[in-house]
Amino acid sequence: MIVNIKKENINLYDDNFIPKDYLINELKNNPYSKILFLIKNNEIIGYIYYSVIYERVEINQIEIKLEKRNHGYGNLLIKELLKREKKDITLEVNENNYPAIKLYEKNNFIKKAVRKNYYNDEDGLLYERKYIIKNFTNK
Ligand SMILES: CC(C)(COP(=O)(O)OP(=O)(O)OC[C@H]1O[C@@H](n2cnc3c(N)ncnc32)[C@H](O)[C@@H]1OP(=O)(O)O)[C@@H](O)C(=O)NCCC(=O)NCCS
Repeated sequence: MIVNIKKENINLYDDNFIPKDYLINELKNNPYSKILFLIKNNEIIGYIYYSVIYERVEINQIEIKLEKRNHGYGNLLIKELLKREKKDITLEVNENNYPAIKLYEKNNFIKKAVRKNYYNDEDGLLYERKYIIKNFTNK
C-alpha cells in the first residue's frame, strides 16, 4: 500500500527515516512538499519525498529500509510517483550511488549534468526524466 502522508495521518510515521519534527515542519510550512510511504503488513518499508514546483517535480530523497533493499520496493515507489505526477522530474545523485543510479536509469531518467565535488570529493549527477518520454516508452 502506498499512502500520501499529510499532517492528518502523521501518526503512521515511526521515525525510522527522516526525523519526525523535520517532516512535520515540511508538511506544515512547505506547500510544495509531498511524501509517499510504502507500507506492507503495517510496516513502513520506505518513502519517497519530493517537491512539486509548478510544472516540474524534484525528488529530494528516496529511501528503503536497509534490510528490504534490492527487492523492487524502490522501483515501486518511483512507478507510483510517475503515475501520480505527470511532469518532468529532476534529481541529484552521488556518482557512486550505484543502486540509485540503476533505479533511475531503469525508469528512463537521463544524466544531464555533472556537479563537480558536490558531495565533498565526489561528484553529483543531475538526472532528468521528461514526461514525454514516459508516454513514448510505456506504451
Ligand atoms: C536507492 C534505493 C532507494 C533503491 O531502492 P531498492 O528498493 O533497493 O531498489 P530496487 O530493488 O527497486 O532496485 C532497482 C534496480 O537497482 C538494482 N539494485 C538495487 N540495489 C542494488 C545493489 N545493491 N546492487 C546492484 N543492483 C542493485 C536492482 O537490481 C534493480 O535493477 P534491475 O531491476 O535491473 O535488477 C535504496 O538502495 C536506498 O534506500 N538507498 C539509500 C538511500 C539512497 O541512496 N537514496 C537515493 C538518493 S539519490
